[in-house]
This record gives sequence, structure tokens and C-alpha cells, in this order.
Amino acid sequence: MTAQRTPAIQVRGLEKSYKELRVLRGVDFEVARGSVFALLGSNGAGKTTAVRILSTLLRADAGTARVNGFDVATQAANVRESISLTGQFAAVDEILTGRENLMLVARLRHLKNPGEVADDLLERFSLTEAATRRASTYSGGMRRRLDIAMSLIGDPPIIFLDEPTTGLDPQARIEVWQAVRDLTARGTTVLLTTQYLEEAEQLADRIAILHQGRIIVDGTLADLKRLLPPAKVEYVEKQPTLEEIFLTLVGADRTNGHDHNVRTNT
Ligand SMILES: Nc1ncnc2c1ncn2[C@@H]1O[C@H](COP(=O)(O)OP(=O)(O)OP(=O)(O)O)[C@@H](O)[C@H]1O
Ligand SMILES: [Mg+2]
Repeated sequence: MTAQRTPAIQVRGLEKSYKELRVLRGVDFEVARGSVFALLGSNGAGKTTAVRILSTLLRADAGTARVNGFDVATQAANVRESISLTGQFAAVDEILTGRENLMLVARLRHLKNPGEVADDLLERFSLTEAATRRASTYSGGMRRRLDIAMSLIGDPPIIFLDEPTTGLDPQARIEVWQAVRDLTARGTTVLLTTQYLEEAEQLADRIAILHQGRIIVDGTLADLKRLLPPAKVEYVEKQPTLEEIFLTLVGADRTNGHDHNVRTNT
């Protein structure tokens, strides 16, 4: 088995183009085991492309990526056993109940006790009351929770959540955040992509910004906050929000294709 001390995810010099469009131009980052890593970026920055490479759905043109110690290009089967991927559109079957959806996946994964597995997950995701209702009657937040619950069957050590709360209302978003926190409490490594800067602030141990094909900053929220001096008003010291940091770093140089590497200036 893989040494538990290696990072959950290691990405080095990852490149990917679609014809002339150079989406990833040398992406590097690491995700520590048991942590939550948020990949931020504007529309089209290449977040989904990176997640698809890490989950073996797409091949990189250059560079390497290891997930759970396995190389995504040469050990794809091992990588797939180590991960689950929850995409933006729920993989829930509307005609089935929540419990049936979960049991279906548990059977597909050849688990011996699908009913027990389903009931445990329904409980964890606060879906016990709705367990016997068709998923078509669920709210967006419930559906998303069910979707994440389905992806946890078989206990993968690493989970990818591609924009887990896009389109959800604030209450449903908070429910999904709680589900993610519960995951990390159990030691699962989470890589999530998001457009919501507050989501990264709430959940992530480490935040990276993908911009024009590269990671332009990578650090803890505290690291990122140190990139901008706190604005001082007479008596109040105001810390910059992640949103302000993001817009300063990304918004300012939309048209300029060079030199985006920013280091934390501690
Ligand atoms: N199969 C494809 N063929 C051609 N171009 C593609 C393909 N998939 C993605 N792209 C392009 O690559 C760029 C990056 O797309 P990607 O989906 O990775 O971005 P993203 O950061 O996930 O964006 P969003 O926030 O909108 O989900 C975009 O310009 C997109 O149009
Ligand atoms: Mg995307």
C-alpha cells in the first residue's frame, strides 16, 4: 500500500490544451492528507479541467499528478479506487427514493450490507426523514447532500467536489458546508472547486487561485490576507476579505498575460 505520509495529491507542471487554447500552463500544488483544499478561479480558468485530470477522466499533455500516491496516467485504476468525484450536476436518480439511490450504489460497489450503509449515510446527511420519498421531491440542498452521500459509499480517502454549492440558496449551501466539515472530521481529504470566495474562507485549510493557466497564489487564508495590507480607518482595523484579495490579484491583470506569481510577503 501507499505510504500514508505522502501528500494526498501532488501536482507538478500540469499542462493541458484544447487545440490552441492553453488552459493549464504548468500547474503545481499539493494537498495534505485530511485537509480541505479549495481551487478558486474565474469561469473558464481550468478548474474542472484540473479535476478531470486528477480523477483520470482526462489526460494531461505534460506534467505529473499523483493521487493517494498513485500516478494518474499509469495507475489510473488505483487512483479511481482512492477517490470519488461529485460533479456539478447531481447523479441522483429522480424516480428512486433517497434510500434506494444509496442502496443502488452500495450494490454496484458489491458491499455486503447495502441497507445498513444507506441508513448510516441517511443519518449522517440528515436525510432519514426523507429516506422513503422520491428524490424528485427533494430540495436542491437535499439532492446535493444525497449526491455527496452517494459518492462516499465505499469510504474513498479523497473526494473531489466540483462546485458543490453552485445554484444552491444560502441555507442549502450551509447544509452542504456542514456535510463537508463532517467529512474532514473523519479524516477524508477534500479538493473542492468554487466560485464562492466565502465558501473557501469557510471550509478550506488551503486556498489556491488558478489564473491564466497557473496557480498564482497558494496558502492559508491568513497567508492570503497578508498579501494585502489591512486598510486602516481611524479607530477600526479592517482585514481584507478573500474577495478583495481575489479581485486585486485576478481582476487587476486580466489583460496582462505575464508575471502573475505572487509570494506571501511575511
Ligand atoms: N472539451 C473541451 N474542448 C474544448 N475546450 C474546452 C473543453 N473543455 C473545456 N474547454 C475550455 O477550457 C477552458 C477551461 O474550462 P474549465 O471547464 O476547466 O473551466 P472552469 O474553471 O471549470 O470554469 P467554470 O467556473 O465555468 O466551471 C474554458 O475556456 C473551456 O471553454
Ligand atoms: Mg468548472
